Amino acid sequence: MKIKTLLAGCGSMGGRWMEYALARPDVEMVGLVDVYVPNAEATNARHGLALPIYSTVEEAMAASGADLLLDTSIPECHASNAVTAMLSGAHVMMEKPMATSMPEAKRLIEVSERTGRFCAVMQNRRFTKEIRSLKRDLDAGIIGKPGFVKADFFLGPRFGGFRETMDHPLLLDMAIHTFDAARYLIGSEPVAVYAAEFNPDGSWYAGNASAACVFEFGNGAVFAYNGSWSAVGHSTSWEGDWRITGTIGSALWNGDDYASYQTLIEDVDSGALAPPMQGGRHWQGAERREACLNEMFEALISGKRSETDIRDNIHSVAMMLGAIESAALQSKVMLPR
Ligand SMILES: NC(=O)c1ccc[n+]([C@@H]2O[C@H](COP(=O)([O-])OP(=O)(O)OC[C@H]3O[C@@H](n4cnc5c(N)ncnc54)[C@H](O)[C@@H]3O)[C@@H](O)[C@H]2O)c1
Repeated sequence: MKIKTLLAGCGSMGGRWMEYALARPDVEMVGLVDVYVPNAEATNARHGLALPIYSTVEEAMAASGADLLLDTSIPECHASNAVTAMLSGAHVMMEKPMATSMPEAKRLIEVSERTGRFCAVMQNRRFTKEIRSLKRDLDAGIIGKPGFVKADFFLGPRFGGFRETMDHPLLLDMAIHTFDAARYLIGSEPVAVYAAEFNPDGSWYAGNASAACVFEFGNGAVFAYNGSWSAVGHSTSWEGDWRITGTIGSALWNGDDYASYQTLIEDVDSGALAPPMQGGRHWQGAERREACLNEMFEALISGKRSETDIRDNIHSVAMMLGAIESAALQSKVMLPR
């Protein structure tokens, strides 16, 4: 039997998710939801479809009896759309962020657990062959225990649209990818953050498009994030530019290539170092959005917890919201465990 599926949010990500869903033999699309009907009509036209169009998830669930909601709407709507869908009996896969406040994020988990509905989040940037390979090397102990991790993220995209009017475009719409990658690589949960958020001269965003954040992790590691979405020139990759310092060596990763490692030769006390060496590929198959969607579908179908289940992803959300709170308070914020 096919999974009766709704798509909410027919913008640019909606188009990508739609292509994926249409290519899955076990998915039957049963409707589109968008507050702006022309976007849903354009999605139908682009894909040669004539799916029913609804303006709310509530209306769409009542009319379609869908099993699954794919939500690619704007960040502020993800939590309420997901709660409505789960309370009407549907599982949910959604774009990041899962919520824009901690009470909303906790309510999502409460509703998911009470209804037994699956709810997981797109974190495509933890599904590249480069980060998967780096993670495998780190877990194998290539640099010992990571203690100090930094990621620089400096880009100057001109999106137009909702990002240029948000209060926290970098922290709310982008940084969660890098924060989620830090949790993935460090293999521990964040416990505290101290952050500054600002909008330097020359920025074309209304809200704060730059931030510097220091996170403390439960295993003692510290993660320093410097990010800007209004940086002109010398861009980093979209994955960020990383240095991970461990007990017996360091990893450098520019986000595009395989990481480079330099480690002690053998005698820790002498401090003698081996020449830097490039890591290899330890990940095959699909990557990015397709890989993350594959993983979510496999988890849904097999009844397992997805790697990006909301009960895991809430820690990435806590980093994002904690950084915003810390910047507003100008003080260190402890993160919920
Ligand atoms: N994972 C990634 O790499 C990645 C990349 C880009 C965007 N995103 C995320 O995808 C989401 C959508 O981004 P986008 O670039 O496609 O935006 P977009 O503006 O192109 O599309 C958003 C669509 O949602 C619709 N919408 C707004 N409120 C709605 C509601 N309550 N119910 C249904 N539809 C509603 C809008 O009318 C619009 O058609 C955002 O959460 C964004 O953060 C993720």
